Amino acid sequence: MALSSPPLHNLSSLISSHGVATATSRTPARRYLAVHAAASDTTTSLKVSTFEEGNLVRPKWTGETPLSRLVRALISFKPLYSILKLGARQVLISTAEKNNIPWREMTKEILESDVYKELDTIQNKSLVYPDYYLNPFHAYDEGNLTWLAAAEAEAATKSMVRRAIPTASSVDEATQILRGNWLNAIEQHHLQHSQTSTIDDILDIGCSVGVSSRYLADKFPTAKVTGLDLSPYFLSVAQHKEKRGTTRKNPIKWIHANGEDTGLPSKSFDLVSIAYVFHECPTRAIVNVVKEAFRLLRPGGTIAMTDNSPKSKVLQELSPVLFTLMKSTEPFLDEYYLTDMDETVREAGFVNVTSILTDPRHVTLTATVPQ
Ligand SMILES: C[S@@+](CC[C@H](N)C(=O)[O-])C[C@H]1O[C@@H](n2cnc3c(N)ncnc32)[C@H](O)[C@@H]1O
Repeated sequence: MALSSPPLHNLSSLISSHGVATATSRTPARRYLAVHAAASDTTTSLKVSTFEEGNLVRPKWTGETPLSRLVRALISFKPLYSILKLGARQVLISTAEKNNIPWREMTKEILESDVYKELDTIQNKSLVYPDYYLNPFHAYDEGNLTWLAAAEAEAATKSMVRRAIPTASSVDEATQILRGNWLNAIEQHHLQHSQTSTIDDILDIGCSVGVSSRYLADKFPTAKVTGLDLSPYFLSVAQHKEKRGTTRKNPIKWIHANGEDTGLPSKSFDLVSIAYVFHECPTRAIVNVVKEAFRLLRPGGTIAMTDNSPKSKVLQELSPVLFTLMKSTEPFLDEYYLTDMDETVREAGFVNVTSILTDPRHVTLTATVPQ
C-alpha cells in the first residue's frame, strides 16, 4: 500500500505535549479527534474517530497482581502451558483468517520460497544477543530466532493493525489509518521542530520483516532508509520481499545488530523510528535504545516511538484476564507499561517531547535532539 497517497489526518490540531505523569489517576481524559479520508477504488469518504484516553496513567492490571501470580503459577506447569499456547495460536490464526488476512497462505508462500539464501548475506555471526531476546516469545519457543516466526510476522502485524482499529471496513483501511497517522505525526513534528527540516537518513530500529521500513521509504522517498533488527530471519524475509517489490531509487539497507549498541557512526541520521518494539523489551533495553538513538541523531533530528499507549481508554478497559494471558507470551509487557516513556526520552537529552494517540490503542511519541 502506498502511504504517500491520501493525507489521512490533519494532525497539527491534535498534537499536545504531555507533562510527567506521577499519579495513578488523572483528569481530564484527553480525546484526539481524527478525520481520515478513506479512499476506496471509486470513492473517497470521510470518517471521524475519537482516540480516547482513559482516566488512569496506566491500566490497573499492570504490574504484579494476584491474577498475574495465578496465571504464572498455572503456566509454569509445562503441559498446561503447551495446551494453552496451542489454543491461543489457533485462535490467532482463525481470527486473522476471518478478518481476510490469509495467515496460512502468507506463511506458506514465505516458507516455500528461496528466502533461506538471504540469511548468509544478512547474518552477523559475531553478534551477541541480549539475554532477554533468547526467551520464548509470542508462543515461539525460540522467540524471534526462527523461520516460522519470520514467515508469520507480516500476517501477525496485519492482525495487530486490525485489532487496533476494529471500526475500519477492511485491513487495508485500518493500515492506512494506523500507519498514516504515525507517519504524519513524524512529519509534522520534524517540520515543526527541526530547522534543517529535510530527512535524508532514516534508521528503523526493530524493523522486523521490513513493513515499517517500507512505509518510511514510501513516505520519505528521497531519504536513505536503514532497517535494523536482532533477528536475521526477520531481516532475511525483509530483504527477500524488498527484492520482489518495486525498485527504489534508494534501496533499503538491512542491518543485523542490536538497537542498544548499533556500532553505527554518531550523528548519522535525521530520523530514528522505533515502531512496536518497546513492549517487547525490558526497561533497561528501552533506556539503552533511546540513548543510542540520541547518539545516532544529528542535532535537530527526530526520534519517533510508536507502541501501545498505557493511557488508551480501550487498553485500560481490556479484560484483566485477557491481558494477564497476553503477558504469558509477551514477557516484558509489564515493564513497558511501567516505564514512563516521556520521561525516559527527556532523561536521554531530547526536547520537544510530544505524545499523541495516533489510533485508539497506540501512542506516537516524537522528540528532538537539541540543535
Ligand atoms: C513487533 S516487531 C516490530 C514491527 C515493525 N517495526 C513494524 O512496525 O511493523 C518488534 C521487533 O523488534 C526487534 N527487536 C527487539 N529488541 C531489539 C533490539 N534490542 N534491537 C533491535 N531489534 C530489536 C524484534 O526482533 C522484532 O523484530
